[in-house]
Amino acid sequence: MHVYTHRPQISAAVANHKKKGAKVGFVPTMGALHRGHASLFDFAQKNCDLVVVSIFVNPTQFNNPKDLETYPRDLQADLAFLEGINPNILVFAPSTTTIYGENVSALDFDFDGLDAVMEGAFRPGHFEGVATVLKYLFEIVNPDMAFFGEKDYQQLQIIKKLVELEQIPVEIIGCPISRHDDGLAESSRNQRLSKQHREAAPFIYKTLMQAKSLFNDKSTSEVEAFVENEFKGHALLNLEYFEIANANSLAHASEKKADEQYRAFIAAFADEVRLIDNIALN
Ligand code: PAJ
Repeated sequence: MHVYTHRPQISAAVANHKKKGAKVGFVPTMGALHRGHASLFDFAQKNCDLVVVSIFVNPTQFNNPKDLETYPRDLQADLAFLEGINPNILVFAPSTTTIYGENVSALDFDFDGLDAVMEGAFRPGHFEGVATVLKYLFEIVNPDMAFFGEKDYQQLQIIKKLVELEQIPVEIIGCPISRHDDGLAESSRNQRLSKQHREAAPFIYKTLMQAKSLFNDKSTSEVEAFVENEFKGHALLNLEYFEIANANSLAHASEKKADEQYRAFIAAFADEVRLIDNIALN
């Protein structure tokens, strides 16, 4: 397995493959790899000749220093995981200095309100940090296609906006959410759940499914009130937000329009672990 830590080497390796006509697919990650990430590697492999995976815990997207500090890091385990999937994957695992130099800070972007709601509202600066690192990573790797999970649906919409704003020549592909058998969305953060909280966490997806089944016959505020009420009675999970939004603009859906797509978004705390999920409603 080829593991690169510096910019010129990974840029040259990818350029070399492209020169020979290879279509390059890129999957950026923060490591702690799991089956959710593997589903993206699969999509990339099916659509491209060469897959590049980055592993980089990006400091500028953490609004909570404790979250950054406790984020799981195990490069050797991640490399073994990738090796088991496909030893031809190229890995880029840079240091913070390699990406940011001495100035570890985010750039400013105008995402036209996409970052003002939900994750953006509850995690100030988060999406600027995500967009900054991706702008740098896209410059370094220069892929044809890049694959992102709908698990982070708002992030996916913002990345589509980023490549439009910055005119980055890459095709952004959204991939479906991969779940455990009990419905919990796969996440690196799940490792931090106590046994009790892990058992409680599928309630999040169960409630999203209930919201979906109510969506046709109820108003959005009735569905939102239903979900809020479900969480009020829950001893182990604390709801941070539940919101029904337009799937494209992410604007809160106070009224439903027949020809629009809607999604429900949720963030909840299981003790100190913050979990997010979402579902298409129509
Ligand atoms: P990370 O949380 O490691 O996720 C990397 C990619 O895996 C993202 O596109 C995310 O949406 C996807 N993913 C995670 N869990 C998934 C699941 N259960 N099903 C499908 N896809 C899933 O997201 C980030 O890292 C960072 O913000 C990053 C984009 C790498 C920028 O630092």
